[in-house]
Amino acid sequence: MSAGLVQAAYIVAAIFFFMSLKGLSAQETARTGNYYGIAGMAIALIATILGPETSGIAWIIVAMVIGAAIGIFYAKKVEMTEMPELVAILHSFVGMAAVLVGFNSFIDPPAIPNVEALAEAEVHAHHVIHLVEVFLGVFIGAVTFTGSVVAFGKLRGVVSSSPLMLPHKHKLNLAAIVVSTLLMIHFVKVDGSMFALIIMTLIAFAFGYHLVASIGGADMPVVVSMLNSYSGWAAAAAGFMLANDLLIITGALVGSSGAILSYIMCKAMNRSFISVIAGGFGQEVASSGEAVDQGEHRETTAEDVAEMLKNSKSVVITPGYGMAVAQAQYPVHEITEKLRALGVEVRFAIHPVAGRLPGHMNVLLAEAKVPYDIVLEMDEINDDLSETDTVLVIGANDTVNPSAQDDPASPIAGMPVLEVWNAKDVIVFKRSMNPGYAGVQNPLFFKENTQMLFGDAKESVDAISKAI
Ligand code: TAP
Repeated sequence: MSAGLVQAAYIVAAIFFFMSLKGLSAQETARTGNYYGIAGMAIALIATILGPETSGIAWIIVAMVIGAAIGIFYAKKVEMTEMPELVAILHSFVGMAAVLVGFNSFIDPPAIPNVEALAEAEVHAHHVIHLVEVFLGVFIGAVTFTGSVVAFGKLRGVVSSSPLMLPHKHKLNLAAIVVSTLLMIHFVKVDGSMFALIIMTLIAFAFGYHLVASIGGADMPVVVSMLNSYSGWAAAAAGFMLANDLLIITGALVGSSGAILSYIMCKAMNRSFISVIAGGFGQEVASSGEAVDQGEHRETTAEDVAEMLKNSKSVVITPGYGMAVAQAQYPVHEITEKLRALGVEVRFAIHPVAGRLPGHMNVLLAEAKVPYDIVLEMDEINDDLSETDTVLVIGANDTVNPSAQDDPASPIAGMPVLEVWNAKDVIVFKRSMNPGYAGVQNPLFFKENTQMLFGDAKESVDAISKAI
């Protein structure tokens, strides 16, 4: 394949990537968006492999077969609840790839095109630019790598979800940036130094670890989207080092869309973007979360809930992470259809950070074929909750916690929540009185109009469906 043809294929692939992002921005078109992405990536891979600069195709194919086999194995095995962890660990691969490409590109720099026709100063400029690309690419990649590994650990529950509070943590972060900048100046001045590159890589690994470890559980949604963005910039940096235009475009698309998503997440959680990406800079240490005597809670049965639902005019279902764990979306769809057939208005209220990854609930409900037009965002439905007869809180906890509004010392203080307590009756589906992801007790469970339906959400919803 000639270089011209490869460039043409890259343009086509880039157009597919734009169309993919556009498709992914709405539920109705998300599946098509995914197909565009697959098509774009297939074109990109074929053009790169068959391009004039590629050698060792046999090795590439062996690596692809091994990689694809591992990928297919895990993609088939992974539960929907483990998706956020999978996404986090995939981000770490992009980070590590950028580090390896950086070191490789430093040891074996690519030839400068038409070098004979260039003046000495121009060749020098090329060289300096390449050194800066290597340094920045390795830095971003290393931060992304350890940051993503910590995020993976936090999401999987093997690393504590509470923020790491080292003394002078912000000064440590600042020192890492200052020392890395000085090392970069030295690196360029001495025309490349493996020692400086290795020291900076170690600092960046520690920086990435510290940055994400300092962020508390409730802010993890922002971290996940932020690392998504970092992985994009790491890929773009690798694109610069490899002089591959498509990798630069793709990386920039992922980097900027991840940054926009992080901004949206911050707005949804009423957090400062800068504060979160700086590892919780400017946040006061929240003191709440200790057990406070909240009074008694009331329990109910599936049969009573079925009766209550049949007698309701309007029902709102607020799903959360527990619905994903229980895989309760199918029976939830079933009761939705049964109630709608009885003339009950049923709608869904989706909190922007419900579950463990952006759009988690929307994906589950779409999978169970719940009609899109009854699935509403928090801002669209919050005001209607006071006129709702029954709210079913299915495996949600932090996203319906009134202390976000009532307790300024709570770790989730200021986060907008679904005001389900304003409805006439609230039924909470969960297995115990345990707190949610942020680790704070939920006063909703003790309100007069709340009843708890204990048990696995799928079993409880199945029982209600039978009783209806
Ligand atoms: P959570 O606060 O995580 O609470 C989920 C509840 O589901 C738990 O209290 C749990 O109680 C219950 N549960 C678990 N398994 C269940 C089962 N099989 N059947 C019934 N109930 C079950 O949920 P949420 O309201 O969706 O809030 C999401 C939280 O995750 C927020 O703090 C958010 O910041 C954080 N987070 C979100 C994201 C994104 S991007 N969405 C990413 C990372 C973190 P029991 O154990 O008592 O059953």
